[in-house]
Amino acid sequence: MELPFAESYKIKMVETIRRSTRTEREEWIKTAKYNLFNLKSDQVFIDLLTDSGTGAMSDKQWGAMMVGDESYAGASSYYNLKNAIKNILGFDYFMPTHQGRAAENVLFSALVKEGDCIPGNSHFDTTKGHIEFRKAHAVDLTIDIASDTEAYHPFKGNVDIDKLEKYMAENAAKVPFIIVTVTNNTAGGQPVSMECLREVRRVADKHNKPVLFDSARFAENAYFIKIREKGYENKTVKEIVKEMFSYADFMTMSSKKDAIVNIGGFIAMKSQEVWRQCSTYNIMFEGFVTYGGMAGRDMNALSVGLDEGTEFEYLETRIKQVEYLGNRLKEFGIPFQSPAGGHAIFVDANKILPNVPKEQFRAQTLAVELYLEAGIRGVEIGALLADRDPETRENRFPKLELLRLAIPRRTYTNNHMDVIAVALKNVFDRRDSIKSGLKIMWEAPIMRHFTVELDKA
Ligand code: F0G
Repeated sequence: MELPFAESYKIKMVETIRRSTRTEREEWIKTAKYNLFNLKSDQVFIDLLTDSGTGAMSDKQWGAMMVGDESYAGASSYYNLKNAIKNILGFDYFMPTHQGRAAENVLFSALVKEGDCIPGNSHFDTTKGHIEFRKAHAVDLTIDIASDTEAYHPFKGNVDIDKLEKYMAENAAKVPFIIVTVTNNTAGGQPVSMECLREVRRVADKHNKPVLFDSARFAENAYFIKIREKGYENKTVKEIVKEMFSYADFMTMSSKKDAIVNIGGFIAMKSQEVWRQCSTYNIMFEGFVTYGGMAGRDMNALSVGLDEGTEFEYLETRIKQVEYLGNRLKEFGIPFQSPAGGHAIFVDANKILPNVPKEQFRAQTLAVELYLEAGIRGVEIGALLADRDPETRENRFPKLELLRLAIPRRTYTNNHMDVIAVALKNVFDRRDSIKSGLKIMWEAPIMRHFTVELDKA
């Protein structure tokens, strides 16, 4: 008999989590203004708000923390990280930052100016925020099939190369760089193929433009290339990662994802000139160029995390867990962005709650229902997150209204996945009785979803 699949780790430390009653949750979510970001973590049983900084570090990472060097300048922890970035990712220059959006802030301060246009696949919200804050434009050229949650495509996160060619032919003068987000978080944790990365490079070269990879989940992307793309089945994840980054000029990294640390980020680049342009901003916003807002111990944990996070066995365990949840939902007929993403399942709220007017935020309504059902916290990736158009101030209604269930790395077991699946099934079964959603009582002018205050519509 073939042995079943099991995790490639065992558990050395645990953290207690607490169930609650529906009555308690009704009170708590009301107090939280129907915004799940406002809940206290102990009001949550299974926390799928994000996979960012919420993973479990390994014994080796904790060990490395104990020997962190806290020198202000030139710490050995900085050089450990420099070596890991060179060996694993292939970049000669880098700069630590306290997290991914800080990397965007520093790099974009050097490269983005008013009126610029930055084409790519779906820009993450902080990326778009940093672009629009500079009165520049994020141009989403993701392949069309990404917005059909039922259609299968092995690389649903891809940039549409025809659209990119056309866009560059008409607008290259306004483009400081092209961005590719690996994996494509907004489109559902969907990977980008090596072929696509190569093609983006070709188009960029034609117009003499650099390419930026937003690399938060680069290792999960590499795993999918190994599993799904012809010619890569016998390559190691580390070999695939090296080839991926051979097509980039610089990368921004949220280390809280695929480097499996609780805080940290960096910018890596091939050009010393870009490093120099960024260094002043890094010193102003983050810290001296050899720590950039990170403790030495955290840089040490990050170096080890980059190595562990690019190991096949780890990635296989991780992505199979997300797939397991996807398969349970499929059994119950619950629609989600398929195939399952690398870090999350994105449930299709438009299909589940068509009776709720879209102006009443279907995905947020579904998120609140799931919380009420079982204390599970997901996150809305829909109209709230899409914000208002910066010029017209009208609400933007994206094609997809998704409830993201992000799975922290090495944190929950498949028993938790079963609870999530059944809780969602219970909501799904009573979907026809959910006819109204939520309305905004207060919102911030940019990136409103974090702090928005809502009430029942
Ligand atoms: N880029 C991508 C693709 C991301 O998913 C994130 C964060 C960032 C950049 C910003 O990094 O959080 O370290 O400042 N995504 C988290 C999420 C918050 O929940 O998907 P950060």
